[in-house]
Amino acid sequence: MSDNKVQIFDTTLRDGEQVPGCKLNTEQKLIIAERLDLLGVDVIEAGFPVSSPGDFSSVTEIAKLVKNATVCGLTRAVENDIKVAAEALRYAKKPRIHTGIGTSESHIKYKFKSTQDKVIERGAAAVAYAKSFVEDVEFYAEDAGRTDNEFLARVCEAMIKAGATVLNIPDTTGYCLPEEYGAKIKYLKENVRGIDKVIISCHCHNDLGLATANSIAGVIHGARQIECTINGIGERAGNTALEEVVMIMNQHPYLDLNTNINTKLLYDTSKMVSEKMGMVVQPNKAIVGANAFAHSSGIHQDGVIKNRETYEIIDPAEVGVTESAIVLTARSGRAALAYRAKKIGYELTKLQLDKVYKEFLDFADTKKEVVDEDIHQIMKNTKVTSAAVA
Ligand code: KIV
Ligand code: ZN
Repeated sequence: MSDNKVQIFDTTLRDGEQVPGCKLNTEQKLIIAERLDLLGVDVIEAGFPVSSPGDFSSVTEIAKLVKNATVCGLTRAVENDIKVAAEALRYAKKPRIHTGIGTSESHIKYKFKSTQDKVIERGAAAVAYAKSFVEDVEFYAEDAGRTDNEFLARVCEAMIKAGATVLNIPDTTGYCLPEEYGAKIKYLKENVRGIDKVIISCHCHNDLGLATANSIAGVIHGARQIECTINGIGERAGNTALEEVVMIMNQHPYLDLNTNINTKLLYDTSKMVSEKMGMVVQPNKAIVGANAFAHSSGIHQDGVIKNRETYEIIDPAEVGVTESAIVLTARSGRAALAYRAKKIGYELTKLQLDKVYKEFLDFADTKKEVVDEDIHQIMKNTKVTSAAVA
């Protein structure tokens, strides 16, 4: 693997599907898994096999279906979880077991009523046991975001010794600031023996709206895997959004980081996941929201019509969106009206435009958005016919 390739680990079907109301059946999961494989993700976390018979069979079927990506199953640091995950993954071309345990003070004290040494022992035993089934074992240090760095380094070293191939450093509660999360990854890179033999993975939650920023800080400081979901869906405020981290790396070539993702499939994949899960994408969502490439104020519209790059940093075609939208509202100017009118057959002279624009403003003040049908009506009212087409 090249040094600047960042693996995309998609957990839409596991962390994403944990969201209330987003439950999918096996058939729906298979359609999404096939699409994720086509999109070019490196790893598909297909589910938590021990959690239910339904999840077990979904992971089994996804493992059979997926052609290119590694298929991963989640477990706790519990022997039976691991045995069941290995069973569900038995048909995978590239299987991975993802096991782990909480490492923060509060997890150790309140969840496990245990000690740091015992948690390390239990994590290492889980990794070694998983390794008896598959070569590729990822370890997660749950709540690593709030885990003391020195202790986290001890945990990581023990997991490498036990055979882990990937170390997941989750900011489970979405607590970290980007600088803090980046410094955590840097600390591990500099203080864990054997760290260069494994991949460090970022798994960030969005409780403070920082999941994307934290994941990017992580890869800047040496992590080489990002765990994310389509549309950023996930527990509470969600996970890192796949489309956001991929496009950040694409748009900032000086970072010198790349992925395998076919970005032209991002928009369609977002729509597919949103429809199957019944989770609406907020219109102002970066990259895939309905307004991500829509311009409604007169100043912006005039700029975009002259040259798209005045107000757009991404060519919509790059993410599979047909074209930028010029939305007509009462804030729109003459240039936008002329542009939209031309699209539906009216090439207006300056005089005609002045006349039509006045009528347009009166009309627009009564509506949220002026659509093509309204433009035809305005032309009729002002007696401009499609004969004005050049
Ligand atoms: O957020 C988290 O810590 C997780 C782990 C189970 C990987 O989802
Ligand atoms: Zn998570």
